[in-house]
Amino acid sequence: MNSPNTSLIIRGIGSYTPSRILTNDEISQFVDTSDEWIRTRSGISERRIAAENESCSDMAVNAAREAIKMANLSPEDIDFLIVATMTPDTITPSTACLVQNKLGLRQIPSFDVGAACTGFIYILGIGSDMLQANSYRNALLIGAEKLSSILDWQDRSTCVLFGDGAGAAVLSRSDDTPGRGILGTYMEADGSDAAILNMPGGGSNCPATIDSVNDRMHYLKMAGREVFKAAVSVMDKSAREILEKFNLTADDISCVIPHQANLRIIDLLSTRLGISKDKFFVNLDRYGNTSAASVPLALDEAVRSGRIKSGDYVLLMAFGAGLTWATSLIKWQ
Ligand code: UT7
Repeated sequence: MNSPNTSLIIRGIGSYTPSRILTNDEISQFVDTSDEWIRTRSGISERRIAAENESCSDMAVNAAREAIKMANLSPEDIDFLIVATMTPDTITPSTACLVQNKLGLRQIPSFDVGAACTGFIYILGIGSDMLQANSYRNALLIGAEKLSSILDWQDRSTCVLFGDGAGAAVLSRSDDTPGRGILGTYMEADGSDAAILNMPGGGSNCPATIDSVNDRMHYLKMAGREVFKAAVSVMDKSAREILEKFNLTADDISCVIPHQANLRIIDLLSTRLGISKDKFFVNLDRYGNTSAASVPLALDEAVRSGRIKSGDYVLLMAFGAGLTWATSLIKWQ
């Protein structure tokens, strides 16, 4: 039974990115683009690309080890595991089950959630509810992506934007930090815009055939301009709603961890919300858009660099295919 003083805190955080750096100049050698176009339109300078034999679950495991270490726990302390990804090692079994085995966790509930770039905030919400409703103490939440495996390296409108990586958090019930930790997480979706960001092939609707491969159906497709507009609109709306719910203003927020999709989206959100740019943590210049890994990877860097301090209000916000979007408000412990 949770006591009234029980809170949910991010007890440990970690991330992992592959060592291979792919620069804009390198990409401009095989598609018609330029470093200047990519930097000015997206803010991205380079991204990390996983080795051929480096899987999504491998990256997830590396990030998770860091988070468990920071939490000062051992693998047997973890009570359940959720992985957010749209690039699982295999469609079945889930990547979470592979991670459970590789980390040597107990036979705990382990499953994947598919909410694209919003995935990590979704699992923060789901994980919080599971911790509150059950006798679990510690959840391992991981966002991990090997997006390079689903990018069309002939399509300049998508291949320049994404990268590989993983981020993980240990979310724990705590009885000695009342009023701190996760204050609330809100998730939404609207499937009417599913077609503007999707991968048409590979599911039961379009299994792999010679034709589906020749038609390049197994790659991520995006109507960039429409996605851009929707991203700004829903993240603006959901950030306002969460601030209102907690009776906070833009000035109360010390740090925003936005999904790292495009610097212009972040700049617009800063202007619309009246939260100054320097409060938005940005690392997309180095990693590009790592989808479900983007928020925990940025949060990890923000925490480890001292950008987030005890007592700070931290706002997480993300947006992705689905369409899905979510926000989470944290009072850092
Ligand atoms: O994480 C999921 C969410 N994803 C996002 O949030 C991505 C949202 N969208 C975006 O970030 C932007 O829309 C992009 C970065 C994808 C594109 O920027 P844009 O300013 O919206 O450009 P555009 O799509 O309107 O394209 C402008 C021009 C086009 O040429 P024309 O038709 O004006 O002649 C494109 O063909 O830029 C061209 N273009 C490129 N040129 C050089 C598109 N991609 C490239 C490229 N290099 N890589």
